[in-house]
Amino acid sequence: MDFSIKAGAPEKQKAPCIVLGYFEGNVLTPSAHSVDRASKGYLSKLIASGDLSGRSGTTTMLHQVPGVSAQRVLMIGLGKPADFSSKNYRETLAKAVLAVIDTAATQVVMYVVEFPVKDKDEIWRATQAGLVATDATYRFDQMKSKPADERKLKEISIGMATRPSDELKRAWERGCHLGSGMSLAKDLGNLPSNVCTPSYLAEQAKQLAKAHKLKVQVLDEKDMAQLKMGSFLSVTKGTREPAKFIVLEYNGGKSKSKPVVLIGKGITFDTGGISLKPSGEMDEMKYDMSGAGSVLGTLKAVAQMRLPINVVGLIPTCENMPGGDAIKPGDVVTSMSGQTIEILNTDAEGRLILCDALTYAERYQPESVVDIATLTGACVVALGSVASGLYSNDDGLAQELLDAGQDVWDRAWHMPLWDDYHEQIKSRFADVANVGGRPAGSVTAACFLSRFAKKYKWAHLDIAGTAWRSGKDKGSTGRPVPLLTNYLIRKSAS
Ligand code: BES
Ligand code: MN
Ligand code: ZN
Repeated sequence: MDFSIKAGAPEKQKAPCIVLGYFEGNVLTPSAHSVDRASKGYLSKLIASGDLSGRSGTTTMLHQVPGVSAQRVLMIGLGKPADFSSKNYRETLAKAVLAVIDTAATQVVMYVVEFPVKDKDEIWRATQAGLVATDATYRFDQMKSKPADERKLKEISIGMATRPSDELKRAWERGCHLGSGMSLAKDLGNLPSNVCTPSYLAEQAKQLAKAHKLKVQVLDEKDMAQLKMGSFLSVTKGTREPAKFIVLEYNGGKSKSKPVVLIGKGITFDTGGISLKPSGEMDEMKYDMSGAGSVLGTLKAVAQMRLPINVVGLIPTCENMPGGDAIKPGDVVTSMSGQTIEILNTDAEGRLILCDALTYAERYQPESVVDIATLTGACVVALGSVASGLYSNDDGLAQELLDAGQDVWDRAWHMPLWDDYHEQIKSRFADVANVGGRPAGSVTAACFLSRFAKKYKWAHLDIAGTAWRSGKDKGSTGRPVPLLTNYLIRKSAS
């Protein structure tokens, strides 16, 4: 798909399709008004006849509208002007794109940036347009023997009645780059675990590095043993797939400026290990590397935008399998930090690979460290698929991440890390236990991680509920690439 901006009056746009918005009660957006005038009231007549209701989310395709150069005009209903929210904007935009995809139109020019969203300016609307358009057109058919029907639509443009400012162009492009980072995260998530192995992720990281001039280093199990990553290595013991520790560096900032470190959980399949999971929906545990996917997707977006900032991506990646060599409940391992861990449940493996990556991150003297992980089913119970769980040892960092997510509509919710919860992960036999029982499962997992993140500002995103959708629309969402990228955009500007 190509993305572009087209300037000029909507009625003069020589495109296969243009998209116009209008509200209930005959309230037209400026572009719809301009087309109405050029067509001598064609739209007003349809509205008066009741055919164009303006109800929120309705789409009506008009052909050969008089006085209009475009072959098709897609009218999208925006509901009541006073109710038009960010959520409505995103949803109507996605509906419009999907409605055009069902036609033979090869290109669409959407006059949507002018839609009056409460409290959001043109810049926000342009970024969201790029992001939502890419998101809505994503599909995954790499594993089908024959690709699905070829789509006619090849180019999505936003239409601007007047010449767009450079800032607006950049905002739209950023939206498209965000979308492209999300698509990479989605592809990696949707690939099955027999394709997307730790070695495959390492290969993808190398390709990304080559395409965007990043530094990349892939450590193998021998290197990890030398680093004394005893906790990470204990998780990979039960599998034949070699584990990898991927280190990516994007240096867009000043050489002395401290990097932001992103750490992504890269369990390419989580069976639970000896603490085996029940078989229902176990296929979804191919998504247990979504944190890793989001780090790669974010680095891609950041590199495409050439943000003036330094970012390090760390990805501990392996499988969690039962086997003759596998770790067993009650085993005690020594992490890279020196802290010993009693593994009471081998299914709480994410924190075991992340803790060594958190210790490894110390060498960068980072500005901040954010880890991203499909860490706990308990987080899904707490927040569902709407918000990611956010934990931090620094309230300023937490607020920056919350704001970045809220702004780009990839939201997180602040959860507590109070001392009281640490009681639950006390171990009789080691420094810490890897599980804290059923109550507050997402919180105790974060508390575990916090013990390895004492030397810098740190935040943890539990994305177990937000990284993929289950059921008939099963698929990776590409979250939280928008949140992370927006955080880095804001940091690079400050
Ligand atoms: N990858 C899972 C978390 C998960 C489960 C995410 C279901 C999304 C849906 C993680 O490794 C895990 O198994 N966590 C356990 C922890 C428990 C043993 C303390 C869980 O949540 O059940
Ligand atoms: Mn697990
Ligand atoms: Zn897991």
